[in-house]
Amino acid sequence: MILHLVGNRPQFIKLAPLYRALQARNYEQCIIHSGQHYDESLSDVFFKELNIPQPYVNLKVGSGSHAEITAGVMLGFEKQLVQIQPEFLILYGDTDTTLAGAVTAAKLNIPIAHVEGGTRTHYRGNPEEYNRIVADHLSDLLFCPDQISLENACSEGLDKKAFLTGDIMYDMFLAADAGQSMDKKNDSGNMILLTWHRQENTGDKDRMLSILKFIDRLEGEIVCPMHPRTRKQLKYFNLWDAALGIDNFRIVEPVGYLEMVALMNKARLIVTDSGGVSKESSFAGAKCVFMLEADIWDDLVKANWILKMNPEDGPSVEKALKFGKNAVRIPKEERPCFYGDGHAADKMVDLMEEYILKQQGD
Ligand code: UD1
Ligand code: UDP
Repeated sequence: MILHLVGNRPQFIKLAPLYRALQARNYEQCIIHSGQHYDESLSDVFFKELNIPQPYVNLKVGSGSHAEITAGVMLGFEKQLVQIQPEFLILYGDTDTTLAGAVTAAKLNIPIAHVEGGTRTHYRGNPEEYNRIVADHLSDLLFCPDQISLENACSEGLDKKAFLTGDIMYDMFLAADAGQSMDKKNDSGNMILLTWHRQENTGDKDRMLSILKFIDRLEGEIVCPMHPRTRKQLKYFNLWDAALGIDNFRIVEPVGYLEMVALMNKARLIVTDSGGVSKESSFAGAKCVFMLEADIWDDLVKANWILKMNPEDGPSVEKALKFGKNAVRIPKEERPCFYGDGHAADKMVDLMEEYILKQQGD
């Protein structure tokens, strides 16, 4: 039995192609949902539109501090692990759910495969950095999405268990993109897609105000599927009316993945602080302003595809505005491609099979 632990929006998206690849090889699988994300628009919509089976159990951890979420997931998950005794636990990304799963399974000697192993921001102000490091060091297999992640893992002494698989989000993007009609793509409009939710960018009023000022100066029709955390924090800091007052800034509910791909395929520029969306920008053909200065997809930064911006630093903002003004949609053949060949999920399954065979041989 292969067990998947998921709990956050990007994890449902990463789960879909790997679930299918395992299903194609007739593996028995089970999904546990931590409940860290629970709104329909952050959870159910992905299960429905990506045809993911309903979770076997939802631990319903809900929202809270990092410790509350991590501890809550550990308590519920340990009971399930003891009962299920999976051959492998698959963990995704870098959230508190990932951390909780890694610590719990490692102590029960259950093999762990970590999807998105080796990614690092090298920035300790980023809460997910701790989750990545712990999950990688406790995992038995690290599936690295790009060469840089593999090098990060090797530099931490994890070389024997780290493998370059390519990025599962690219597998998913290609599948979703193939299903979209041509008229939705490469629209020549002036749409800018904006997403914004990181703790670093929502925890402080001045920081949020700087971001609003930056948005106000962007030239285009800005569409923002807003994460509930950002909405909540804008209201908490009495900035909600200021946000609503920005011309050409349309705040909408978070959208499903297929709608998101359609928006990315239409945008001439993507502005985000999302790890996933900043990378997907290169799949979709829209350059990206990344609203944090932490390390992120360095190949895309070097290729001048992603521009990192500090919203509180004047020169950095001016540079980003200029970058944004000049951004146009980039045709497929000119897009950089650092994230595999769209078959990351199959490579992951191969690696798990090799691992299981080796264990049986020992
Ligand atoms: C979490 C992950 C982050 C990931 C993101 C994906 C951690 C530390 N952070 O951030 O790495 O990029 O998911 O989207 O695990 N909320 C709702 N409804 C929900 C879920 C959350 O309203 O369904 C609100 C609550 O007020 C909550 C806040 O959003 O307190 C933050 O939620 P949380 O899961 O702690 O962090 P995210 O910002 O979603
Ligand atoms: N996404 C989505 N709907 C939205 C915003 C994002 O489907 O309204 C998708 C996005 O395309 C990407 C993933 O969610 O695949 C990224 O999730 P998020 O930005 O929440 O997390 P991060 O990648 O920063 O961990």
